[in-house]
Amino acid sequence: MIKWKIHHKKESVSTNLDALAGKSGDVFTADYQSAGRGRLDHKWESVKGENLMMSAVVAREEASPEKVATLPLVAGVAIAEALKVDSSLKWPNDVWYKNKKLAGVLCERRGDNVIIGIGLNVNAYPIALKDRSTSLKEILGERQSVIEIRDAILASLSSFYQAWLIRGFDEHLRAIIAKRDYLRGKTVSVRQTDDDSEPIEGVCEGIAEDGSLLVGGERIYAGEAHIEGVR
Ligand code: BTN
Repeated sequence: MIKWKIHHKKESVSTNLDALAGKSGDVFTADYQSAGRGRLDHKWESVKGENLMMSAVVAREEASPEKVATLPLVAGVAIAEALKVDSSLKWPNDVWYKNKKLAGVLCERRGDNVIIGIGLNVNAYPIALKDRSTSLKEILGERQSVIEIRDAILASLSSFYQAWLIRGFDEHLRAIIAKRDYLRGKTVSVRQTDDDSEPIEGVCEGIAEDGSLLVGGERIYAGEAHIEGVR
């Protein structure tokens, strides 16, 4: 097990920025972020003191760039498995409950480390995002402890990360992910982030051994997937 060292602030600009000064095993948390960041240059809005905002620093060890590309999926499934609700993993690394987002992950490579930034709606979500967000409180019907959830996720992250270091993105890990795969079997439209091409549309066949999304026979390495009728 990784022995995590927590550094907590009441207010931060972004815990992923705080984590730049960290070393492997450090975890930066905050009750509030003034400029929380999401994937694809989105903002991450949260509600003061109600939710989990944390960035865990892990070493890349000897992992190749191809292998590191699968780490965000490992982080996503570690969160999904740690929660007491039947959540799914929406490629590349969101955690959803039914048709709404519960948590997001922003992984950033920094030298020999990877910063795993996690935003989870524990007791609230911004009102403006109510059509597409949910929280553990909303699902379970009562307030949840941010600290208990933080610790459950860190324990899960530790074991998934260590298994990934040893065995890679192997069949066992992929089978766990496949059970929670939100997009698999659905008709999706995926806007790729690496180029200006038209979105790829088709039935999602799941996640490949290199972490890419399989849609209509094509492999997609970076992008955002949409399902018709779901915001
Ligand atoms: C996404 O869904 O686009 C990813 C959201 C990641 C948000 C978390 S909150 C803690 C950490 N600090 C940040 O600024 N972002 C991540």
